[in-house]
Amino acid sequence: MTHVPTVSYDDAGALPVERLDLLLAAHHHDRHQLVQLLREAQELQGWLPRATLAHLARGLGMTQAQVEGVAGFYRFLHMRPMGRYRVLFSDNITDRMLGSEALMGELCELLRVVPGRLRDDGRVSVDKTSCTGLCDQGPALLIDHRHVITRLDGERVARIASLIDAGVPVDEWPAQWFRVVDNVRRADVLLGAPLRKGDAIAAAVGRGPLMLLEEIKRSHLRGRGGAGYVTGRKWELCRQAAGDTRIVVCNADEGEPGTFKDRVLLTRHADLVFEGMTVAALAIGARRGFVYLRGEYRYLLDHLHRVLQHRRDAHLLGLAIQGVDGFDFDIDIHVGAGAYVCGEESALIESLEGRRGTPRIRPPFPVECGYLGQPTTVNNVETYCAAAHVALHGAPWWSSLGTPKSTGTKIHSVSGDCERPGIYEYPYGTRIGRILEDCGALDTQAVQVGGPSGICLSAFEFGRRIAFEDVPTAGAFMVFDRTRDMFDVAHNFAQFFAHESCGFCTPCRVGTALVVKRMDKLVAGRGSRHDIDVLFELDKLMHTATHCGLGGAACNPLRDTIAKFRPAYEQHLKSLYFEPGFDLDAELSIARRMTGRDDPAAHMEGTP
Ligand SMILES: Cc1cc2nc3c(=O)[nH]c(=O)nc-3n(C[C@H](O)[C@H](O)[C@H](O)COP(=O)(O)O)c2cc1C
Ligand code: SF4
Repeated sequence: MTHVPTVSYDDAGALPVERLDLLLAAHHHDRHQLVQLLREAQELQGWLPRATLAHLARGLGMTQAQVEGVAGFYRFLHMRPMGRYRVLFSDNITDRMLGSEALMGELCELLRVVPGRLRDDGRVSVDKTSCTGLCDQGPALLIDHRHVITRLDGERVARIASLIDAGVPVDEWPAQWFRVVDNVRRADVLLGAPLRKGDAIAAAVGRGPLMLLEEIKRSHLRGRGGAGYVTGRKWELCRQAAGDTRIVVCNADEGEPGTFKDRVLLTRHADLVFEGMTVAALAIGARRGFVYLRGEYRYLLDHLHRVLQHRRDAHLLGLAIQGVDGFDFDIDIHVGAGAYVCGEESALIESLEGRRGTPRIRPPFPVECGYLGQPTTVNNVETYCAAAHVALHGAPWWSSLGTPKSTGTKIHSVSGDCERPGIYEYPYGTRIGRILEDCGALDTQAVQVGGPSGICLSAFEFGRRIAFEDVPTAGAFMVFDRTRDMFDVAHNFAQFFAHESCGFCTPCRVGTALVVKRMDKLVAGRGSRHDIDVLFELDKLMHTATHCGLGGAACNPLRDTIAKFRPAYEQHLKSLYFEPGFDLDAELSIARRMTGRDDPAAHMEGTP
């Protein structure tokens, strides 16, 4: 782990201006680097005082309001002190199933902290965050946005509390706590047959850009990030679009709860990812590449920079890519700052440009008008890995794997109620039941495939197959056995969407909050069938009226679980008919206390 140097601040709590000037110079005073500048300034001092924001604004030729507007968008950027230790518990349903909520309660009690609030002495704050992508080794937490701790238990939590109370720097905590294991349980061509560095690039160069593009198209490779758009077609549109330069972006935002396969690809196969991006650059004629790395994976940054430098040294990146005259392609890494919506490709581009991650109105699509208005190809981490293999081994080989409409293999992040959580790669067309058998799942009630935005399958559907033509997926595979309440699962997912809605459009901002409110009412035992009908209505509205895919998918888990696990909802109903959203008798308890009354007439039932 890298040590964060201690620096002294001026009276306003801001970094000395010389430090900020160094940061600004390192980023060429480029306002498109604003998110990176804010993140790096915060890493040096733990939060972003107004004086720091003002200095950055001046250095970038922006107003302070503009800079604050950006800082205010991202959950991992703080405009007020969050403590020397900022602890964030991963709040995915799989973390909860492993006891995360009780562990967080214990830590708060030991540290005398109110969740979400800074302790009075300014030392520590503890809160929840959306899934941190460590579901196979949870419960997990993030500390200071740059360290992850996995496999939490009561003993570990107690030791964390004493280390914080004793003021021990995080770098000096037991190293094994920060160990993230890859848990590769089943490898096929992507995980099991590593390519020699540069081989796919050499093959791509040998074919030439147009034949390479043709090969990618013939392979029928489709995007692995969720929507399943045909990769060759996307690259072709990007190549044909008018622009001064072209951009290749690797979407490593991996924010969908339950998904962690890109984390493993970036850890073990970063060379393959960069090789695939370079193949894409050759095919579309790009000069510039970006990896958009989710903030939760900040701990991978140094490793990724090292791999990139090795590739430059080996002439696999930069000015002198072997065998190609005049081809100059290099890759930067941009670290996100805690916003799930930035995985949506147009929001991601906004963030890359240093702005709030608000999804753009489309068309135009990024392939025509993306990063700084230039044609831009955005693909998932796994898509680039697959493209490198296609460039080397050819389309017939790739399309001999999988099904006719879903060629090749797919990597799954398996978590939840099973003996062997981890990473599993299978050819498309594999049965859900086969994956359950392999991961040691017993007495399974349901599987959530593709994360909360995906599909919830019940036991009678376990014969269905992973494929675009049957069960498509971005990679999450969360298993729930019969002891689980599927209402709790849907409730957790509803909270996730409400938390992550960017607030830009009303149907999503209000709709996701209303869904949570209705579900809270059911949890409080005040629900009726009417509430379930309202949830169905909200689903219909949000499906059609929201600006981006987040709002459109927000009710998917609700719809699936109501349809397939209705008893789980009905056991939370107080009545089959209308029930108000509040309990009038409970509301009267304050008046009873104040008047010292508790006789029958002071209760609703007691009134004539
Ligand atoms: C709210 C939202 C979040 C998304 N998050 C991701 C993500 O984390 N990773 C990803 O590859 N695609 C994500 N996508 C899909 C991207 O917009 C885009 O379709 C994808 O990166 C294209 O790559 P592909 O063609 O290789 O799948 C998300 C979409 C939405 C609507
Ligand atoms: S649907 Fe939700 S996340 Fe998408 S733009 Fe609207 S408010 Fe933002």
